[in-house]
Amino acid sequence: MAIPQNTRTPASMMQDAKLLEAHDIGRTFGGLAALSGVSLTINRGEIYALIGPNGAGKTTLFNILTGIYKPDSGNFRLEGVEMAGKKPSEMAKSGISRTFQNIRLFANMSAIENVMVGRHCRTSGSVLGAILGNSRTRAEEKAIAENAKHLLDYVGLSKHAHMLARNLSYGDQRRLEIARALATEPKLLALDEPAAGMNPLETDSLKILLETIRRDGVTLLLIEHDVKLVMGICDRLAVLNFGKKIAEGVPSQVCSNPLVIEAYLGVS
Ligand SMILES: Nc1ncnc2c1ncn2[C@@H]1O[C@H](COP(=O)(O)OP(=O)(O)O)[C@@H](O)[C@H]1O
Ligand SMILES: [Mg+2]
Repeated sequence: MAIPQNTRTPASMMQDAKLLEAHDIGRTFGGLAALSGVSLTINRGEIYALIGPNGAGKTTLFNILTGIYKPDSGNFRLEGVEMAGKKPSEMAKSGISRTFQNIRLFANMSAIENVMVGRHCRTSGSVLGAILGNSRTRAEEKAIAENAKHLLDYVGLSKHAHMLARNLSYGDQRRLEIARALATEPKLLALDEPAAGMNPLETDSLKILLETIRRDGVTLLLIEHDVKLVMGICDRLAVLNFGKKIAEGVPSQVCSNPLVIEAYLGVS
């Protein structure tokens, strides 16, 4: 099933293969370099993964690419437009959306309301008005609710539309976060450890969902600890270690890179 209301040109028809180009990104915290000199290019329509040991700087890079942190140095472009330092809401409007390593949902709102909130950046009316049924936003509210319904269906949660987010299973909460991120109609969807805490069955169905999202024209940037999932799903990946990119390439190249074997996989 295609992502509802996604009218973007299919990736294969776009002329420029590069969607995001990051150049020489650096960020320190209290004198400690969390990231230094990281450059990477993410092509349209690919699943690009970021792996590395705990503390390697993966989430920091995500936080920079999604506007939560400003980089101390370097810059990055989405479709040629400079993005570094923009706010998360501006990033979302431009087409970068994300989920979080620690799930961030509105626990006491229903699943469908959580997705409706995600739609906010693509609509003109107030989200509160839309949820409360303000008459001025009624038509928009209907469209937002329809869109949210489609997205819940898309991620396999339609039967839980009216369940409070906090009552969903862990795996379903992760899917709900993905639906909410998709509500912004991203060009680049960044997922920070989406399989964390999932059982093998949930991980398998997550893999199918991610492949479906990519097939439907959304480029994916994926941080993931589950190396089997990463290697089985990504087109290319980069390895971070101590804030630096130590390898990049297709999975078979990266797996056989001695630096990666030594630094990440811990095999001597
Ligand atoms: N807000 C912050 N304040 C201070 N240090 C931070 C902050 N965010 C990340 N760091 C530090 O930056 C480094 C990289 O962290 P992080 O990006 O979360 O790594 P990863 O996601 O690869 O596990 C770590 O040493 C971490 O302690
Ligand atoms: Mg992290």
